[in-house]
Amino acid sequence: MQLAILGAGAVGTSVADLASEYGHEIVGLADSSTAAVANTGGEIDVPGALERKAGDEPLGEASLEAVFETDYDVLIEATPTTLGEAEPGFGHCKRALEADRHVVLANKGPVAERYDELRDLERASAGSVRFEAAVGGAIPVLSTIEDCTPQAVTAVRGVLNGTANFILTRMAAEGLDYEHVLAEAQDLGVAEADPTFDVDGTDAALKGVILANVLADGGFSLADADVTGIQDIPPSALELAAEDGQTIRLVGEATRDGIRVGPRLVPENGAMAVSGTQNIVQIETRHAGDLYSSGRGAGGPETATAVLSDVGRLP
Ligand code: HSE
Repeated sequence: MQLAILGAGAVGTSVADLASEYGHEIVGLADSSTAAVANTGGEIDVPGALERKAGDEPLGEASLEAVFETDYDVLIEATPTTLGEAEPGFGHCKRALEADRHVVLANKGPVAERYDELRDLERASAGSVRFEAAVGGAIPVLSTIEDCTPQAVTAVRGVLNGTANFILTRMAAEGLDYEHVLAEAQDLGVAEADPTFDVDGTDAALKGVILANVLADGGFSLADADVTGIQDIPPSALELAAEDGQTIRLVGEATRDGIRVGPRLVPENGAMAVSGTQNIVQIETRHAGDLYSSGRGAGGPETATAVLSDVGRLP
């Protein structure tokens, strides 16, 4: 497949790095400010473009046009997630689908906020939309639901944010307070410079909304999620939980009735008590009990793996 990548952050550049291993060719790469970094089109060298650094001057709208004008099969939407209108990501997907191209998203915004419109565009297009990378990084969550068929799945719940999980794990293990561990996570590069959406539950909620949309075939957006973050958890709450053989995890749950995200007591030695930046997903099925999958829920190569697995599943 010929891939055009929008978003030259950790995910976009990792897709570019790994694509040839999967037998695909990169024909364009644009940065997140909708300014193209490169349009190979047989002329520009993508590896060179990958050396661009944050803060480099964007190359302008005209270059984005150049990427869209390449002869691509699949648009990889890996620009940063935005809330509300989910732009410019949604517009990129619309444009590709209207041109009968496939779209694979790592960007959660368009899938969480404008799922129904995205599906309408897909129905009117010869292209397909896939977004495994938007939920649980490397963990095959959506493809597992697809394999089970969504109708056979009653709920999906799990630890869907690695940053929050790292903070809770460290707080419980060392008796440290939230602010201290958050600063440590930022120093280690585990938490983003602005970790607001990780710790206030928004990132996990977006993933929950995507899951609820998959289960119910649409109808949900972030406004439907009931969300509580981890910012107000004192070390004493974790100590109390430990006395009872439990710990606290930020758990997201999606059903056909809605989305709930918040701190929950879970057994200390249970499946849900994954450590550090790990994610875990429990898929509750109607007739076959629970399926569990855990692993790395973030990171460039990890998320790129999910993107490329989606490319491999395109018709
Ligand atoms: N920042 C997220 C996390 C990964 O910490 O899990 C991207 O959704």
